[in-house]
Amino acid sequence: MNTETDSSVLNSDARSGWYTDVLIVGSGAAGLRAALAASENADVTLITKTTLKESNTLYAQGGIAVAMNVDDTVDLHVEDTCSAGCGLCDVGAVETMVSEGIPRVTELLDWGANFDWEGTLPRFTQEAAHSRRRIVHKGDATGRETTDVLVQRVLNTERIRVLSNAFAIDLLTNAESTQEKVQNTCYGVTAIVEDKLVRLYAKATILATGGLGRLYPCTSNPEVATGDGFAAAWRAGCEMIDMEFVQFHPTTLYLDGAPNFLISEAVRGEGGRLINIRGERFMEKYHKKGELAPRDVVSRAIQNEMFLTGFPCVYLDITHKPADFILERFPTISDTTKRYGLDINIDLIPVRPGAHFMMGGIRTNADTETNLKGLYACGEVACTGVHGANRLASNSLLECLVFGVRAGNNAAAYAASHTLQSPPSIQIPSNEEMTPGLDEDFIVAVKDAIRETLWENVGIERDGEGLEQTLDDLEEIGVEIDLCPYSPVSLQTTDVGLCETFNMLNVAWLITHAALVRMESRGGHYRADFPDQDDIDWLKRIIVTREDDPKIVDL
Ligand code: SIN
Repeated sequence: MNTETDSSVLNSDARSGWYTDVLIVGSGAAGLRAALAASENADVTLITKTTLKESNTLYAQGGIAVAMNVDDTVDLHVEDTCSAGCGLCDVGAVETMVSEGIPRVTELLDWGANFDWEGTLPRFTQEAAHSRRRIVHKGDATGRETTDVLVQRVLNTERIRVLSNAFAIDLLTNAESTQEKVQNTCYGVTAIVEDKLVRLYAKATILATGGLGRLYPCTSNPEVATGDGFAAAWRAGCEMIDMEFVQFHPTTLYLDGAPNFLISEAVRGEGGRLINIRGERFMEKYHKKGELAPRDVVSRAIQNEMFLTGFPCVYLDITHKPADFILERFPTISDTTKRYGLDINIDLIPVRPGAHFMMGGIRTNADTETNLKGLYACGEVACTGVHGANRLASNSLLECLVFGVRAGNNAAAYAASHTLQSPPSIQIPSNEEMTPGLDEDFIVAVKDAIRETLWENVGIERDGEGLEQTLDDLEEIGVEIDLCPYSPVSLQTTDVGLCETFNMLNVAWLITHAALVRMESRGGHYRADFPDQDDIDWLKRIIVTREDDPKIVDL
């Protein structure tokens, strides 16, 4: 069995680098599943920012949406996904995800995922905007169960080497001419591994670096989610699409001293009610589906109630459910809140919205190919178009499993038909040539400044003036650290904090820029100055690259 870290890379000469067939960056469900698929036909190196298990996947509570219930069909799941996506989904990609999701989930069960069962079928739960009960789950710790199963399999696979605490800074690329055009090719990454700058060469590279919730002060995401893959891809010349669409989850815990923590939508799916500080149930005022309205509607409603009552949160009430049901269905939420003195059997849960999921990302087709040869992307960092303007609950783990496998298979096939011929020799700078690191407190302050301006102006509600303000703020913040938010420079440093800060600055700029271009409201993007969805002018998508002004393209 492999150990988690193969440190022989550290012993390799930084100049000669480390070679592999398929390099995977990121160890959430998408990266792990890609590694397993690729390893059937290639040697794989999987690198991860901290530990193998730490990712957004680990914290996923709700479950995996899959059309396996007796009254369900692929068509119904496709319809619900596209309707949540508000007209911007790529229907072909959605059909792929939903239909291939069935064998992917079946396989996970065969591999030992211990999801909840009822008779001969998994126990399906309900979440917002699903027309059927179709969410398979393990209590409220589905992400942990999925992670455990996949990690175990990865560690048992000979052809996968794992390198943890390896921070990928930038993609290695060179321009390659074909008869028709010059295309950038990716052949690995530069990374910080144990305070050294190293080059990891690969015939094919898969980015599966997850999300960016930590660009916002309130979020359901863990600390690692600083948008690193989005930034590195954009700097390398990838097309970034739908970057204005950030999903805010309506209910993250708001409790003194408690960390960022998700209160699953399944709590509302099982009958949880939202009430304001005055004890009034309010969701009926905002949407006919009440608590199970789309996430953007519930988040805006909560924000409005907070504004109307002048109180910094609302409450979620599940106390009417039997205590044994709550304990069995929501053990993680019960345990976590108990640690902070709250018993959800008898107490109301203080909640408010937080950044949860990025619908946009690196533009890929359903084969997970990007516009860089040899570079594939899957999971939250990628945008195949399966989510459109708003993701349906519990479709993200499904996406990771389906497109993880596709990325792994396609990258392995690419690696088999390409040789890595003498990549351009890049000098690893000497210590004196490196960009010096920054003081830790200063980095915290700069990250907080980025988060503050995004929350204020590029959050649940935006308008032109606020977005312009944030673009100015980001430039000013950039001056503080001597970096420009829209300049795709490569950092030569071993300071992970500095890299994260630059990544956050780049990605904040991308989101803000795209949000300014889209002059309508749709799904996760709500413009108070353009409050209506405009299907005449805006059934379109926005692509941002490092070279050009944003391109607005038809579906
Ligand atoms: C939740 O449990 O509410 C989150 C699930 C998801 O985002 O799909």
